[in-house]
Amino acid sequence: MNNNTTTSAPFKSVQSGFDTSLFAKTTHNPSFASLTKQFTDINGLRDYCIPVNPYFPPPAIMEKLQERIAFALKYYPGSNENIAENIAQFSEVKNPKTIIAGNGSTEIISWLNSLFIKASLFVPVPSFGRWIEEPQGLGIELHTYRYEDSHNQYTSPEQLAAEVKSSGARNLVICNPNNPTGSILAREQVLWLLNELSYLDNIIVDESFIDFSGEEPPSIKNDVANYRNTWVLKSLGKNVGLHGLRMGFAISNEENIAKLRKHLPYWNVNGITEMLLHLIKDEHTSYHQSRMKTIADAIYLSERFEELPEFTVYPTHSNFIFVKLCDSINGTELRDRMLQNHGCFIRNCGNKLGSSEQYFRIAARPADDVNHLMDALKRELSSLQNPNNKLQSENSGIG
Ligand SMILES: Cc1ncc(COP(=O)(O)O)c(C=O)c1O
Repeated sequence: MNNNTTTSAPFKSVQSGFDTSLFAKTTHNPSFASLTKQFTDINGLRDYCIPVNPYFPPPAIMEKLQERIAFALKYYPGSNENIAENIAQFSEVKNPKTIIAGNGSTEIISWLNSLFIKASLFVPVPSFGRWIEEPQGLGIELHTYRYEDSHNQYTSPEQLAAEVKSSGARNLVICNPNNPTGSILAREQVLWLLNELSYLDNIIVDESFIDFSGEEPPSIKNDVANYRNTWVLKSLGKNVGLHGLRMGFAISNEENIAKLRKHLPYWNVNGITEMLLHLIKDEHTSYHQSRMKTIADAIYLSERFEELPEFTVYPTHSNFIFVKLCDSINGTELRDRMLQNHGCFIRNCGNKLGSSEQYFRIAARPADDVNHLMDALKRELSSLQNPNNKLQSENSGIG
């Protein structure tokens, strides 16, 4: 089984056919399935939206998973506690009792939003949509603070603590590194923040992308259980390159985890996820190698974007980059033309609070995909700046 579908799809010239009206129907991007008519019409589509690890799991693990998949489908999975033990081993968290497994970390986000975050919430923006729209939908008062262009999308812990205090919010979510800006706080800075804001009801540190921040990620995964009010959240699906499977977890002190577990369905995580976790739990070396390759891809992507004078590229500490397009070109038009004319699916951040259609989050991909993206971008940027080129590009059906 080859899990790297976007790179392995034979490239062919794209002559439109993707339904861009799908973008208006969701505050997330349309799924790959909906754009490709349930994978029946890939039409050269390459996904630069979802930041994943394309180098994991190793092929031998995928073969074993495929061999055994019938068992995972025909028998009930284990309990949340059993699954948490495998997550602890794979993710090197010391105490499995401090872990709760989710059907994707989005499931845990929903439980935290519904059960733990009561009065008011502070989120620096732009951020992951589920930390913004779901609390808003639940009637939770939302306080925000915007990461600034002038500070390279970085906010110091001192500034953040001051903003949280003056807002009067009772809960805080920070993504570390932040999605979509790619900015990061060091472990000591996060621990300082936890102590400074110890009066809050809950502090959630979403470390979903931290494995791609560098060789030694500044995780607080083995500190968090010492705090009364703190949670670490972690998405696993994209990290292990199988985000269709739905895998994620939260870490907190044993008391908080036991409290949350009372509300979860007994079998909230499916058998295929359980089987995969069992197969990868000791794959530390291959996972480390895959992380490092993904990080190298992000560096290459960032360097290539620096070639484009139309974009400002912000420093990244993740497997994606955050870039800003100059005002003379319309971001939505560029997104649509990249999809229609080249099959390049890129994330425009126009529907994110604290952002605009001039900002993009671009996922790291292997060098060939990045080169393809750059060629396509250069053509479209030139077309959009020069109407004569635009006509030529439209007539030639450029791939
Ligand atoms: C910061 C952050 N947290 C959590 C998630 C949810 O991931 P999943 O539900 O696939 O584990 C995402 C998805 O993009 C994210 O960006």
